[in-house]
Amino acid sequence: MKYTTVIRGARVFDGSGSEEKDLDIAINTSGEISVHTPGADISAKHVIDAEGLCLAPGFIDVHTHDDTSVIKTPGMEFKISQGVTTVVVGNCGISASPVTLSGHLPNPMNLIGKKEDFIYPEFADYVKAVEHARPAVNVAALIGHTSLRNNHLSDLLRPANEGEIIAMQLQLRKALEQGAIGLSSGLAYDSAFEAPESEVKALIEVVANAGGIYTTHMRTEFDGILNAINEAFDTAGHRRVPLIISHLKCAGAANWGRSDEVLKLISERRKSHQFACDCYPYSASSSNLDPGQVTDENDIYITWSDPHPEKSGRLLADIAAKWDLPLLDAAYKLMPAGAVYYCMSEPDVQNILKYEKTMIGSDGLPYDPHPHPRLWGAFPRVLGHYCRDFSLFDLPTAIHKMTGLPAQEFRLHKRGQIAEGFHADLVLFDFEKIKDMATYENPKQPADGIKMVWVNGIPGYPKGKQSPGRAGKLLKKYAGQPARPGKVFDTAQKNP
Ligand code: ZN
Ligand code: CU
Repeated sequence: MKYTTVIRGARVFDGSGSEEKDLDIAINTSGEISVHTPGADISAKHVIDAEGLCLAPGFIDVHTHDDTSVIKTPGMEFKISQGVTTVVVGNCGISASPVTLSGHLPNPMNLIGKKEDFIYPEFADYVKAVEHARPAVNVAALIGHTSLRNNHLSDLLRPANEGEIIAMQLQLRKALEQGAIGLSSGLAYDSAFEAPESEVKALIEVVANAGGIYTTHMRTEFDGILNAINEAFDTAGHRRVPLIISHLKCAGAANWGRSDEVLKLISERRKSHQFACDCYPYSASSSNLDPGQVTDENDIYITWSDPHPEKSGRLLADIAAKWDLPLLDAAYKLMPAGAVYYCMSEPDVQNILKYEKTMIGSDGLPYDPHPHPRLWGAFPRVLGHYCRDFSLFDLPTAIHKMTGLPAQEFRLHKRGQIAEGFHADLVLFDFEKIKDMATYENPKQPADGIKMVWVNGIPGYPKGKQSPGRAGKLLKKYAGQPARPGKVFDTAQKNP
């Protein structure tokens, strides 16, 4: 038999953003998609009657910190239960490899694991570990600028010197040769903040030669956001490397209402440079507890605390009141700790979500004992809350933002679309019922309405007889794809 599975009668959304089609979709024995007219004569071992359900390409979570989770918890239930079939790891400047620790684990690398989890001195070691673990979802990996700094700088609170830059370039080049898809930076964090634009540009040269991409958690998302956006474009534009701005937002009450201004600048600059961004569908952010973000202008929830684990899930303001301390002193007493910051305005979030170049990325933190609900809910929330209930965009557009668009921007070969010969990463869901169940109070809840998920043609969700699962692969940078030349970037002369 040529086909393992045929899915009949679904409303098929191909991921390109075009209208739904009536098609029967088969999966062949190589785990590839085959497209047929409804009712076509196909014999397959499994016949799925999908009448009334939606079939889409598996969702691509472009912004994750699942680097070591795909190895330590390969079932990846928090992602596959959302219909996610591929995660991009290594965001925000922090990747699990290539990393050699000398002593302590710099902030924010602790978001992706403990000291003992950093056991991949080369990217090839990481590849081997992922392949051995057989995670439930595919993995594409960025190399973090902060991770490179950790390997070569004795002190992260200063710029890299010439020798250190060369060492980072060589290590990055090797990782890209071994299949990493690009570079990420986390310039807002202490551990990279002192890196000048020129330091990142030196690494961009390596990325350009390898045909990779650049993602950035910008220098700031607060008042100076326009300068930070210009810096991101200038940096990537140095060698015309495609730019992806991570978790785009207007952070801080003083910054609310500026999304029009932000998107206007982006629209202007992307006329001459390939650009995309990601966004999570919530108006609260989450990261380590950062004294610089402690404010009484918005609520801050503590998600974990090493010295005071009992404070997890409580408001910083309440903790401070109980301790009779100013907010900042209470924060220092809780650190190291994690937090959820209610730092965005809902109209800004919606404005950014619906922008045509915005993809969906959860930015979920898998090791957080009381995680932000985006870890379990981001994708169903876009479909149920923002698309169906709120009509922020239509369903083909919502699906495009999580499938075809990210596959194109991250250069994931033959993924993100339902098309003949593409890899059968698929999700079947009930659009009437889909709902994120994860809340700030009760964040570890699988979504409703996800019926079935296939990864590389193998059923991966729900768990059961028909779901051997864990068929994810490590997706290496596609060698057949030449570096895109892009357009001439007009400020390149100003910033040689
Ligand atoms: Zn980030
Ligand atoms: Cu992130």
